Amino acid sequence: MKTEILTLLRETDGYVSGQELCEKFGVSRTAVWKAINQLKEAGYEIEAVQNKGYRLVSVPDILSESELQSVRKTRWIGEKIAFFDVVDSTNTRAKQLAEEGAPNGTYVIAERQDAGKGRRGRGFDSPAGQGIWMTLVLKPEIDPNHASMITLVTALAVSKAITDMTGRPAGIKWPNDIIMSGKKVCGILTEMSAQFDYVNHIVVGIGVNVQNKSFPKDIESVATSLFIETKEHYHRAELVERIWEAFEHYYEIFLQTEDLSGLVNEYNSHLVNMHQQVKVLDPKEPFEGKAMGITPKGELIVDTWESRKLVSTGEVS
Ligand code: BTN
Repeated sequence: MKTEILTLLRETDGYVSGQELCEKFGVSRTAVWKAINQLKEAGYEIEAVQNKGYRLVSVPDILSESELQSVRKTRWIGEKIAFFDVVDSTNTRAKQLAEEGAPNGTYVIAERQDAGKGRRGRGFDSPAGQGIWMTLVLKPEIDPNHASMITLVTALAVSKAITDMTGRPAGIKWPNDIIMSGKKVCGILTEMSAQFDYVNHIVVGIGVNVQNKSFPKDIESVATSLFIETKEHYHRAELVERIWEAFEHYYEIFLQTEDLSGLVNEYNSHLVNMHQQVKVLDPKEPFEGKAMGITPKGELIVDTWESRKLVSTGEVS
């Protein structure tokens, strides 16, 4: 009910009468009044004028299910949203839900994570109200060997959404860090449960630093936020929506061929170190060369002084 009223108030430029709300949702005036009060308590500024009705004046920067559903324009992502004030890790929670039967496109989102997970066993700082900590459940019928490319699809979607929203370039550092002014603004952690030839589920975790004004000492030289970069506060629910819209678009292109052939050019245009000298931190033998973009399988092409190498795992700096 709150979600429906909020959606209608959002869509209406002006006032929506109490009568209209009652008729549209088949509820009493008292029920409408109660829902409006709950919205006000959650931080929505709603003007009520006699003989005119209700008008939405401003919205708070919260990630409740009602808020997220009322801005949702995606086709299948977010039909089910699991919101938590605090959670250990949205990836852990998403895996549990996927095992319990949550459908493809469900996502988990939290205001705070107290055990946020990064790649390679690292932690991920996820303070309350400062960012977007969310994980999407996918159940694709694809070869498990192709699943790692979904991380690059996600990086492209986040890069596009942030660039469009802020008007500032948010590039990709291969394979999946999102970078602004040389620092990381978003990390992505994809995990999979699969049989030899069958994907049970994939969870795609995305952590975007949005409102942070500072970071813990150990990461302050490498981390940034949208606020630090632009001195503006962005409405997180709107960015969530933009990320999922972009993801739906790119993911459907990926599914057509089960590779990145339809996305290579766009991915490369967002690559921060395209045509630049990079260090490949290969655990066996680190080497340097010029990054030349990705292959349709998502490998990074690196030209060294002696040969062309394809990097499929690891990190570059
Ligand atoms: C990395 O860059 O190391 C990956 C960071 C991924 C962080 C996100 S926040 C939402 C989701 N839940 C987690 O525990 N991790 C991912």
